[in-house]
Order: sequence, then structure tokens, then C-alpha cells
Amino acid sequence: MNNTVSTFGKAKIEGRKLSMITSYDYSTTKLIDDTEINGILVGDSLGMVCLGYENTLSVTMEDMIHHTKAVTRGAKNTLVVADMPFMSYQVCVQDAVKNAGRLIKEGGAQVVKLEGGAAVCEQIRAIVNASIPVMAHIGLTPQSVNAFGGFKVQGKTEEAAKKLIEDAKKVEEAGAFAVVLECVPAKLAEIITKSINIPTIGIGCGTGCDGQILVYQDMLGMFSDFKPKFVKHYANVGEMMKVAFNEYAKEVQEGIFPSKEHTFKINEEVISKLY
Ligand code: KIV
Repeated sequence: MNNTVSTFGKAKIEGRKLSMITSYDYSTTKLIDDTEINGILVGDSLGMVCLGYENTLSVTMEDMIHHTKAVTRGAKNTLVVADMPFMSYQVCVQDAVKNAGRLIKEGGAQVVKLEGGAAVCEQIRAIVNASIPVMAHIGLTPQSVNAFGGFKVQGKTEEAAKKLIEDAKKVEEAGAFAVVLECVPAKLAEIITKSINIPTIGIGCGTGCDGQILVYQDMLGMFSDFKPKFVKHYANVGEMMKVAFNEYAKEVQEGIFPSKEHTFKINEEVISKLY
């Protein structure tokens, strides 16, 4: 394991940027694990990009464990962070510790992530006390989509900006080893990053964070329901897949596929005895 929670802390001290990407399955994880990416998040975004839900609220502990297991089988060098789904930690501290433990013990993750600032510090403290590292997540926390009235940029007023700075300090104080900042104006994200000693991992927060994270289907052009402003397409894999699928369908129609090289042989003598 080349990347651990210590790698993340050291990167902040040494001024090296961290990169993270989501993954939900074994094959994609193996590809990511062969690169310079530091961390994989088994995000509850799987509800949207893998399961086709409108938001992340329906994702269950069983969904998360199922996908985390697949990811951890493929990750040898990359730090694996598993998301705690909606209602797996909000109700009480006991639930939070028990469910965090399941993601580590059954899923094989090294770290859990949960959404919220001051409101979830008790949970963060208890999970960390159980020797499970926690990545916090503040700003646009998708599990609060109904409370926010949609997926909106956070921290734009003085009061909201001060609250986010306070939340970042509080999750650090509670023991989180890193914090995701989502959809926070770039200048505010920079201020938050400078005001805490744990790394900030940004998504839709500009370059002032200590690291970045993207959903892999977004960055590869594989998710077409909507494209957030902060997403950059690094490749158009979605289009490449469609071209390949069509080519395959055409070759099947025309009897070109499978060709000899993709076909198994049998001794002619055996065949002659079948008639
Ligand atoms: O679930 C997820 O993919 C996330 C990232 C967007 C940070 O929480």
C-alpha cells in the first residue's frame, strides 16, 4: 500500500497535491491502481452513476459494502475511502461506529467518509476513537439535497462562508484526517485550506485545495444525465463505447464476428460421427 492516511498528511506539509477519483468496481479500480492517483472513493454517487437514482439518498449500507468489496479486491496501492450512506450515521453515534466498522471489516476499506460539519463531530470523534480514519465532507453535501433545495454552490454569503470555515475547523478538531470540500467558491476554499492543518480535497472548488476528486464517469464522458460546471472531460470514453458497441452489432449482423481466431476447433473425425 503506497498511499495511506499518512501520505495524505505528509502531502499537505510538503505542498504536494493529492488526486482522488471515484470507483465502484474491480476492473476500473485495477486501472486506477496502475496510475499515480492517490486515493479511490467508493462514493455514494454510485446511486446516480451506477444505479440510476436521481440522487444519493436511496443508497444502502448493503450497496456500499457490495461495491467497496469489489474495489478493495482491485486496489493494491491506492487508499480506499468508503462513503457512509444517508441515515447510516445521522441517527446516533452507535449506528455511526457500527456502520463505519462494517465498511472496514466487511468492505475492506481503509477509511470512511461522512457528510456534515459541526453536526456530525460526535460521530467523527467516536469513529476515530474506534481506530477508523475519517474523511469529512462539507460544502455541498449531496445527502442534504432536500434541505438545500437542490444541488447548489454553498458558502456564498458572509454567514454561510463563516459557518463553512468553522465546520472545517471543527471536523479537524474532531479527528478527521482530511476533508472534502464540494462546490464552494474558489477564494473561500483557499481560505478554508489555509486555516486547517488537514488536507482539503476539492470538487468544484478551484485550485486552492490540497487535492482534487472527480467522479470517473464524469471525467470520462460516460454519464450523460447532466454535466456539472466543474467537470472536465479528460476523454470521451462514452462516445468510444458507443462506436465499439455499434461496430460489434454490425459485425454480428454481417456474420463477421466471431471470426476464426475467436472460435474453438474440434477434430473433424468427431464431427463426422455426429451425423
Ligand atoms: O459520492 C461521491 O462521489 C462524493 C464525491 C463527489 C466527493 O462524495
